[in-house]
Amino acid sequence: MKPQTPPRTYRVKSFGCQMNVYDGERMAELLDARGIRPATEGEDADLVVLNTCHIREKAAEKVYSDIGRITKSGRAAGKEPLIAVAGCVAQAEGEEIMARAPAVSMVVGPQAYHRLPEMLDRATKGERASDTDMPAIAKFAQLPRRAKRSPSAFLTVQEGCDKFCTYCVVPYTRGAEISRPFADLVDEAKRLTDGGAREITLLGQNVNAWSGEDARGTAIGLDGLIRELATIPDLARIRYTTSHPNDFTPGLVAAHGEVKKLMPYLHLPVQSGSDRVLKAMNRQHTADRYLRLLDEMRTVRPDIALSGDFIVGFPGETEAEFEETLSLVDEVRYAQAFSFKYSPRPGTPAASMDGQLPREVMDDRLQRLQSRLNRDQLAFNEASVGRTCDVLIERRGKHEGQWLGKSPWLQSVWFEAEPGQDPAIGDMVEVELVEAGPNSMRGTLLEKVAA
Ligand code: SAH
Ligand code: SF4
Ligand code: F3S
Repeated sequence: MKPQTPPRTYRVKSFGCQMNVYDGERMAELLDARGIRPATEGEDADLVVLNTCHIREKAAEKVYSDIGRITKSGRAAGKEPLIAVAGCVAQAEGEEIMARAPAVSMVVGPQAYHRLPEMLDRATKGERASDTDMPAIAKFAQLPRRAKRSPSAFLTVQEGCDKFCTYCVVPYTRGAEISRPFADLVDEAKRLTDGGAREITLLGQNVNAWSGEDARGTAIGLDGLIRELATIPDLARIRYTTSHPNDFTPGLVAAHGEVKKLMPYLHLPVQSGSDRVLKAMNRQHTADRYLRLLDEMRTVRPDIALSGDFIVGFPGETEAEFEETLSLVDEVRYAQAFSFKYSPRPGTPAASMDGQLPREVMDDRLQRLQSRLNRDQLAFNEASVGRTCDVLIERRGKHEGQWLGKSPWLQSVWFEAEPGQDPAIGDMVEVELVEAGPNSMRGTLLEKVAA
């Protein structure tokens, strides 16, 4: 590679889960701290960071085609952009990317991106650099202080996964479970609220496996952390995602009934309603155990909105087993859900299991599952009509006077402000939900809620 002038503009493109988005924000902050500015929309950036996801098919192919597109577009604009591949594809296939894509000068894994600035220095000198270490010392201590200003912020509290579900790459791309220290998290949360955040979503691959010690040295779990964060006066809402059924404690269930700032929403993946399939997936829980947990949640918080993840077409899944998933859905009545066709991931045990299913079977099952999930999502939204709730305004809508935010149940809510009402991004307002759509609610603005 040729030496280059240091980049003046950057773009970080994040393709994965919320933790991947969080990492993308932190990489952007590292670059900001270097005096590099974000490229404006449509502008070709001098440095592009592809923050990739490896969870399902075609992840790597997509990276290569993106690299091609960026190089071509950069050339047309008369520049040779520096390209960094970050995220979980970088972790899993870093060497191959270096070998196959000469336009890439940096490959950096999800546990090593605090070293991006050093890598950038080398890249501008014309050297290629790759770092996919998973150091025991967490990267967090070496990142700049949070600067982001947004009413709703992410905060990674736990990383990695020791569960080894047989279909999943995360334990390989993110490494073993680690919890960030309590004091660091309280500190980061305060910085976020000082910067204008009113809502914080605590993130982790298994966020409810978080454990630590509070200021007095007492061992606490996620519920203890939530209770502490709830004492931050400017913080109005707390959420967390993604949790695992096996890491639920009675304390966390109780917190849903007791901590007002903890929002009535729970994303709890189940993947399948069949115990035989759950076993083959190594989920280590039964459908019944999952359902009982949701019952407990509904007992302490009757209005809780439930969400889940599903995989259809896991190797060997029979029609009858798939129908058990449909029955579970009928029983739970999710407010929201995410469903995927099984995708064999290189190196995972399920990829070499017998009984891989044809695409048509998976397509058919996905479509049948999604039609029920959509039915339930609409029903949940319709049942919300007439409710009055707080909405945290996150952005302006497309039309003049239109505003968008989230309800406590994580529904997208839009409303039009009357002249004189003057809401602003970051305001918490009281809204009456008046009309339900499949993916959003229309509201009318009643009043601003005091901070
Ligand atoms: N840690 C979380 C999920 C992380 S991955 C949990 O265990 O709940 C997000 C979702 O992607 C999973 O819940 C699963 O539904 C889906 N997923 C993961 N691996 C997959 C694969 N190989 N094929 C299809 N979907 C997959
Ligand atoms: Fe993947 Fe299972 Fe870990 Fe979730 S719990 S990240 S699905 S291995
Ligand atoms: Fe994807 Fe990595 Fe998240 S594989 S889902 S970006 S942990």
